[in-house]
Amino acid sequence: MRRILLLLIAALVALTSCTDSRKPYRIGVAQCSKGRWREKVNQEMLAAQHLYEHDVKVNIANAFDDSALQAHQIDSLAQAGIDLLVVAPNEDTQVINEAIARVLSAGIPVICFDRKTSADYTAFIGGNNVEAGLIVGQYVASIVRDMSQQATNGKTMVMEITGSMNSTPAQERHRGFAEAMEGLSGIEYVCRQSDWSSDGACRIVTDQIQTGRLPDIVFCHNDGMATGVYKAVVEQGVEGRIKILGIDGMPGEGLEYVQFGHQVGTYFYPTHGEKIIRLAIDILSGKPFERDNPMLGFVVTPENVDLVAMESTELMRQNDHMVTIQDKLEAYFGLYNTQRKVLIGSFVCIVLLIVAVIMIWRAYVQTRRAIRQRQALNIEETLFYTNADSRILRQVFETPPEGTPEPRSQDTIFAESLNEAIRKNMSNPNLKMEDLGEEMGLSRVQLYRKVKAITGQTPVELLRQMRLQRGYMLLTTTNLTVNEIAYEVGFGTPGYFSSCFKKQFGKYPTDVRAEQ
Ligand code: FRU
Repeated sequence: MRRILLLLIAALVALTSCTDSRKPYRIGVAQCSKGRWREKVNQEMLAAQHLYEHDVKVNIANAFDDSALQAHQIDSLAQAGIDLLVVAPNEDTQVINEAIARVLSAGIPVICFDRKTSADYTAFIGGNNVEAGLIVGQYVASIVRDMSQQATNGKTMVMEITGSMNSTPAQERHRGFAEAMEGLSGIEYVCRQSDWSSDGACRIVTDQIQTGRLPDIVFCHNDGMATGVYKAVVEQGVEGRIKILGIDGMPGEGLEYVQFGHQVGTYFYPTHGEKIIRLAIDILSGKPFERDNPMLGFVVTPENVDLVAMESTELMRQNDHMVTIQDKLEAYFGLYNTQRKVLIGSFVCIVLLIVAVIMIWRAYVQTRRAIRQRQALNIEETLFYTNADSRILRQVFETPPEGTPEPRSQDTIFAESLNEAIRKNMSNPNLKMEDLGEEMGLSRVQLYRKVKAITGQTPVELLRQMRLQRGYMLLTTTNLTVNEIAYEVGFGTPGYFSSCFKKQFGKYPTDVRAEQ
C-alpha cells in the first residue's frame, strides 16, 4: 500500500513539474502618452509575447503626458512584481528619474524606449532622433532650393516647432534639424518651442500668420502638431501657401495627410515593439546585449507615400491578426490548463479510489476470515455444549483402556478416566458435556480445553467417535440389531447412527453386519 502511495506522489510530482515549466517574464510598460504611434508600439509588444524562445506577459500603463502620474505608475508596476520595466519617460524630470532609480535599485532592469532620461537605465532602444531631424532638414533644404529657383524675392522662412524640450526626442530632433539648416543660404530659420500638442502648434502658427509674415515651410516634431498647423492655415485662409512637415508617418495620420496634400512630408518614425521584447528577453535571460539600440526611419514624400501607406497598413493589419491569434491561443491555453488540472485531479481521485477499494477489500477479507474463525469456534462451542456430532478420531481413544501404553502420564491418566466416563454414559442420548465435566471434576471450559489439547478433538467429536467405535464393535461381536445398537451407543435415531457410521467407516452398519 505504501508503495502505491509513493508511486502516486511520484506521478503527481512529475505532472506538476510539467505544468510549471517556464513562467513568462513579466514586463511592465510605462507609456508616457497616448496616440496612434504609441498604440502601434503597444500592439507590436503584445503581439510578440509568444514570439520568442521565452514567453513574456506585457502589462501597459499610460500616463497621458503627466510626469507625476507616470512616476506613480512606474512604482505600481514595480510593486506588482515585474521582471523588467520598459519606459518611455514623459520628460527628463526628477520625479520620473527617481522612480526609475527606485526600480533599478530593486534589481529590476529598465529599458528606455523612444525617450531617454538623464537617470541611469539598463538599455535604450528607439528611433535615432538626431538622424530624424537631420534627414527631414535635408529634405526641407531640397524644398528650399526648389522654391528659391522659382521665386527670387526675399528669404524662405523655415519654422521649426518643437515637442517638449524636456524630452530627448525634441532635443535631438532639433539638434539634427538645426544642423541641416546651418549654412543653408537664402533662408530665415526660426525655432519655436512647444509641447507635442496640436493646439500648441496651431496657436504658434496662427500668431505667426497674423504678423503678416507667412512661414514658407513649417516643420513640426510630430504629425499631431502638423495637423494643428494645417488647421491654423485653413482657418487663416492661407491654404496651399505653407508647406507642412511632421514626424511619425502613421497610417490614418501623417501618411494620410501627405496623401491628401496637407503635408509635403513626414518621417517614418520606427516603432518595432517586437525588438523591444527581444531586447527585454536578452537582458532577462543573461544574453549579451547592446546598451544603445537606435532604429532607423526614413522620409516619406508625396512620391513614396502611397507605397509606404500600403505597406504600413498591411503590416498593421498583420499585427492585429497576430494579436487576435494570440488572444485565441491564450484562451485555448487557459482551457488546456484547466483541462489538465481536471485530468490530474481525476487521476488522483481514481488512484485514491483504487487504493480505497483495495483497502476496503482487504478489510473485508480479514473481517470474513475473522468471522469464519469465530463461527468455527462458535460451532465447536455449540457442539461442545449441545452434545452434537463429530468426526475426528484420535489415537488415544481408539484403543481400549486396557491397551493404553506405558508410562502413564498425567494426560494418559486423564484420557483413561475420560474414556471410562464416556463409555459409562454414552448410552444416554442426552449426555451433556457438563455432566461429563462434572464427573471428571472439571468445568465445561476446562474439559473442552484439556480434551482439545490432548486429542485435537472437541469432547463432542470424541464422544461421537467413541460411540461409533463401540457401535462397530457391537455389530461384529453381538446379535443386537442395528437399531438396538444405535440406541445402545447413544444415538437419538438409527438413521442418524447409520449416516454417521458411513461417514466414519465408509460403509453402512448393515454392510458390516452382512459381512459377518
Ligand atoms: C507620441 C510622440 C510621437 C513622437 C514621440 C516622441 O507620444 O509624441 O508623436 O514622435 O512621441 O517621443
